[in-house]
Amino acid sequence: MGLYERVIFPRVLDFVMSQPPFEAQRSVALARATGEVLEVGFGTGLNLRHYPPAVRKVVAVDPADLLPQRVSQRIEQAVVPVERVQRDGAQLPFDAGRFDCVVTTWTLCTIPDVAGALAEIRRVLQPAGLYLFSEHGRSEMPGVARWQDRLNGMQRWIGGGCNLNRPIASLIEKAGFRIASLERFCLPRTPRIMGEQYLGYAVLD
Ligand SMILES: C[S@@+](CC[C@H](N)C(=O)[O-])C[C@H]1O[C@@H](n2cnc3c(N)ncnc32)[C@H](O)[C@@H]1O
Repeated sequence: MGLYERVIFPRVLDFVMSQPPFEAQRSVALARATGEVLEVGFGTGLNLRHYPPAVRKVVAVDPADLLPQRVSQRIEQAVVPVERVQRDGAQLPFDAGRFDCVVTTWTLCTIPDVAGALAEIRRVLQPAGLYLFSEHGRSEMPGVARWQDRLNGMQRWIGGGCNLNRPIASLIEKAGFRIASLERFCLPRTPRIMGEQYLGYAVLD
């Protein structure tokens, strides 16, 4: 890994993803979380302060170990116990139906095998469980989607593998979920190619 991926990108990511619009969206996304939660794509632990009291434990999966000192501090300060598992979200080492809730925030854009990860999320979620998501992705406006396709290669390079153009809702549905709630909007003061949000939750179909 080069200097950019190791040192610069994690700091930029943590700074950008802790800005007020993201923070507000995290609280909304996680409000329904309960019991034992699996978070796929834990990043720098920015969701921890948004979990409601109904959450008993967070199991945090990410293949990367970003900003280890800062993340350790966040875990120490969290009111909920956190277990970290350094793994690919497409190969989860958990029994079927283990979790009450699975969470992804701005992660489906980056996982290389996103269909594999969603299949794993479906497998480890208990039948009555909730999959909570807050993601960015493909626009329904054809002109914007065309620009997302054009700029995707550059974004993947700058953004640590992040794709601009994934159709988040249909990926979730194709994995065997029924989306029970979906809000679509653009982040304030953000170009539509990056700002198109998918916020909601899904249940097993
Ligand atoms: C844009 S960051 C979002 C981090 C965090 N979820 C947040 O809301 O701030 C994308 C995250 O996906 C993680 N990621 C990349 N590939 C992954 C994979 N195969 N399985 C799970 N997570 C992955 C990255 O390491 C990174 O932490």
